[in-house]
Amino acid sequence: MFNNTRRRLVILNAAVFLLLLSVLSSLLYVHMRYRLFHDTDEILKQAEHRIQSFHNISELLRSDHPDTQQDERTTYLFWNAQGQLLEQVPKQSFSLGTANQFRDHTDALTVRTVTADKHSYRVLRFPNQNQSSAAIASIGIVRNLEDVKGTLHSLMWDIAAGIIAGVVISIFAGLFLAERALIPIRRSWEKQQRFVADASHELRTPTAIIQAQTELLFRHPAHSIEQESPNIAVILKESKRMGKLVDDLLTLARSDSNQLQIHSSTIALDSLLSEVIDQFRLLAHTKEIEIRTDLHSPLSLWGDEGRIRQLLIILLDNALKFTPSSGRIEVTSRYQSNSVYIRISDSGCGITEDELPHIFERFYRGDKVRSRTQAGTGLGLSIAQWIVDAHGGIIRVNSKENKGTKVELLFPRKQRGPAETSGVGRL
Ligand SMILES: Nc1ncnc2c1ncn2[C@@H]1O[C@H](COP(=O)(O)OP(=O)(O)OP(=O)(O)O)[C@@H](O)[C@H]1O
Ligand SMILES: [Mg+2]
Repeated sequence: MFNNTRRRLVILNAAVFLLLLSVLSSLLYVHMRYRLFHDTDEILKQAEHRIQSFHNISELLRSDHPDTQQDERTTYLFWNAQGQLLEQVPKQSFSLGTANQFRDHTDALTVRTVTADKHSYRVLRFPNQNQSSAAIASIGIVRNLEDVKGTLHSLMWDIAAGIIAGVVISIFAGLFLAERALIPIRRSWEKQQRFVADASHELRTPTAIIQAQTELLFRHPAHSIEQESPNIAVILKESKRMGKLVDDLLTLARSDSNQLQIHSSTIALDSLLSEVIDQFRLLAHTKEIEIRTDLHSPLSLWGDEGRIRQLLIILLDNALKFTPSSGRIEVTSRYQSNSVYIRISDSGCGITEDELPHIFERFYRGDKVRSRTQAGTGLGLSIAQWIVDAHGGIIRVNSKENKGTKVELLFPRKQRGPAETSGVGRL
């Protein structure tokens, strides 16, 4: 899949580069061609100007005149009123037929390109206005274009070589760039793949248990509900587990695609905390765990009440789950400068140094927990992290193995603009 994408990116890159090089090279070629022809025409016009201003034009016909001798690429042709070639300087540069072609293929005073004897020439023909030589009716100045064509020819080869080299370089550069550009895409693709695989795996266990238990029920159709209540209880427990898992998965999937919105309002955090803690008291009591609180009141927070409640439940559930009987849980909350500070600490089994960096990863569960067959899917802290991030807060976990765990939360106290939602000072 990525090979195809990479190939497409490279081809696109090379095609754009080729197009760009071709356009620039064509512009360069056209400009150079124009400049070379323009320079040649300038030479012809200057020569015409000099000839018209001569005192005695017949001097030009002397073979050693500096004006006609200085540049061997230029030939001067002189015709009489009948169109007969009177003279050419340098002598015998062209045959009579070729000279007549220059006369026939040009208009007076316009510079033309004439091809004769398989060579190209730039020709300027003009009527003689110089009175010193009345026999000369018109004069032609002919300049050989072979060197101009040679220059343009080699320029074209240079451009072609440049384009080929550019395209080859762009292919290699494209391969390199596509590889780099695909790294984050590949990572997130692999992450997503892992997420789907883990989710399917986690869903498979409760599904299998529910299926097996239901089949067991069918084996004894005459049994009463009371007789089968242990099996039915397992089905209920597993379907609850599956329901929670699907809820958690949905939350994370929607948060990934930014579909979940935070509906913020002012929350009375002191009463929300007391309410959530009270829900856990009965459970804590049955496990002989003491819950101590130090809650500042009044304490308000700008946020989504439902999500903050979910966050507190996730953290208290962990504290209770990972703390053995006769342990202790402490919940503290207060204002801290411009932030709201919440701390939930427990005297539970703690998290090892190796595990600590991974606890926010999806489906990550500590080894100890797995071996103790604690309920859970490893999605709680991933959701907690998302809720804290969505509120522009910070979550930090400190833990010592067999000593306990401390989770600290810091939220901005006041409503913030979208640009300010990250960072709330230091924990
Ligand atoms: N208070 C805690 N004490 C000890 N270990 C903890 C504590 N909180 C989290 N952990 C460790 O971090 C892991 C991830 O926690 P998380 O809440 O994401 O998953 P879970 O509690 O195992 O499952 P879920 O919350 O989805 O039911 C836990 O499996 C556990 O190893
Ligand atoms: Mg949990």
